[in-house]
Order: sequence, then C-alpha cells, then structure tokens
Amino acid sequence: MRPPALVASLPPRTLVLRDGCAYRLRPLVRTDAAAVLEFFHTLSPESIRSRYGYLITNMTPERAHRLVEIEPEREAALGLFAPRPGGGETLCAMGRLVHTPDHRTAECAFLVHDRCRRLGMASQLLLYLRVLGRRRGLPRLFAQVRRENRAMLEVFRRAGAQLHFDAGGEVVEVDIPVRKTKFLFDKSAGAPSVPPMAPPAKKPFPFVSLALDLIVCAGVFTLFFRLVSPHVPSEDPAMIRLWGTLAASCMTGVFWLAWQMVKTVFRFQRESNR
Ligand SMILES: CC(C)(COP(=O)(O)OP(=O)(O)OC[C@H]1O[C@@H](n2cnc3c(N)ncnc32)[C@H](O)[C@@H]1OP(=O)(O)O)[C@@H](O)C(=O)NCCC(=O)NCCS
Repeated sequence: MRPPALVASLPPRTLVLRDGCAYRLRPLVRTDAAAVLEFFHTLSPESIRSRYGYLITNMTPERAHRLVEIEPEREAALGLFAPRPGGGETLCAMGRLVHTPDHRTAECAFLVHDRCRRLGMASQLLLYLRVLGRRRGLPRLFAQVRRENRAMLEVFRRAGAQLHFDAGGEVVEVDIPVRKTKFLFDKSAGAPSVPPMAPPAKKPFPFVSLALDLIVCAGVFTLFFRLVSPHVPSEDPAMIRLWGTLAASCMTGVFWLAWQMVKTVFRFQRESNR
C-alpha cells in the first residue's frame, strides 16, 4: 500500500459560468456542514437517488459532517458556492474523489443542485478533480454510472473519458485519463485545461549541453574518420585525409540530427511525466 507522496489540495478560485455569475470553487471544509445540510434539504429525491443509488431521507448534521470531514490522504471534496447577496455562500455542487486502497486510481462522483444544472458545474468540477488527481500522482480516475444517467455520461464523454458499456449491464464503467494527450508537433493552441499560470522563466543558454554535444560529436567524427579513411581509393595521404574528413563530417552531421531528435523526444517524455 502506497500513500500518496503529496496530499494535494486546490487553492480556492472564482469561476464565471454560463449564466454570467461568479462562483467560488474550493475544497469542502468542516465548517461547510451546514451548507451541505441545506443543499440536501432542497435537492430533489431523483438527484439524491442518481448520486447515491438510494434516497437519503435522513440527512442529519452528523451525516453532513461526515461528508465534509474527509481523510485528505485518501479523499478530496470540492464544492462550488454561489455568494449570497447579504454575505455568506450557498452550496451549488459537489465533486468528490475517493482513492482505491492501493492509491493507483480514485473514484469520482458529482452532485449538482437541481436549480444549477447545465451551467457547466459538473464539467468544471471534473476538470479540477483531474487536476487534483494529477497532483496526487494518479494516472487515471474512474466512475461507475448507471446506463440511464445520460447527463453524467455526457459530462464524462465530453471530457474525453472512455465509456465501457457492458452488454445488458446496468452500470457503465468510465475511465478518465488524468493527463491530456500531448502531441509533439501540434501548433494549435487549444483551450487550456486550467487557467494559465505565470509565464515560464526564461531559460539560460545551455552551455553544458552544447559542450557535451561537441564532445560527443568529436568522438563520433573520429570514429567515422578512422572507419572511412582506409576505404578512400587513393594512395595520396592528402586526398585520403580530405575525403576521409568530408565523409566523416557528413556522417557526423547525420548523427547530430538524430541525436537532437532523441534528446527532444526524451525531454518531451520527461516533461509530460511531471
Ligand atoms: C449529472 C450532473 C452531475 C450534470 O451536472 P451539470 O452541472 O448539469 O452538467 P454540465 O452543465 O457540466 O453539463 C455538461 C454537458 O453534459 C450534457 N448534459 C448535462 N446534463 C444533461 C442532461 N440532463 N441531458 C442531456 N445532456 C446533459 C450536456 O451536453 C452539457 O453541455 P451543454 O449544457 O453545453 O449541452 C447533474 O445532472 C446531477 O447532479 N445529477 C444527479 C446526480 C448524479 O447523477 N450524479 C452522478 C453520479 S456518478
């Protein structure tokens, strides 16, 4: 069993959704129990049943506490809140991650209040749960959704998740990759999955890397020169040196190009694993 190295959390942020209103996205904390209680008391029975598979009729303060007092090393719970005119916040939606015992993946689930549907809340929560999953070192998330829950399945499908329908099965297994696939040579700047952060610091000129390249290329040139020179069809040492140097230079040039490509791919893979 491997506890995650970092119990990543998410700093609060403001999101402007489709209705033009600003909502606060933040982890649920102890003091949100009252908001959770109110959230449940105003939810439709269908929504509760869709989320939990049964109807919770007795949402007590203790139960609400259990929903917000998470174990950070195996759970994460995010809430989306609407500011109240007179101060305070109203809980509009919740998203939750629960790690599997081996910490290799985590189940995610959502509940959006009936009056806040189709504003993109579930999609935003999923986006940030993926960010959290990535920060926690989880390569994938998963969900189990009832076949008839078209809304939830559509949210996952739109986010690029794989839906596995079992013939005759009632539950759809959803596999959600946490990383976005990166392409080496794509130029299109798609919408960022998270708001851009500070611009990257300007990198210093790579003197060490250049020196290493020169040393490697000098070694390769010497090797090629030694291999090629005996095959120059001439008795004249000057000619042998000239054509040996030219041939070895060409081959070293090709080697340098291949070496740069290997380094680029290696660097790309290392960065995408971060
Ligand atoms: C499923 C649920 C979480 C979706 O929340 P939401 O905030 O309304 O979803 P979003 O606004 O992010 O929807 C994104 C897209 O999903 C699709 N979608 C969402 N609700 C839909 C619905 N009722 N019917 C058809 N498509 C729907 C749409 O394509 C939508 O994009 P669009 O509005 O631009 O057309 C919400 O309906 C809910 O809480 N249901 C009850 C609880 C539940 O079923 N939880 C899942 C248990 S795993």
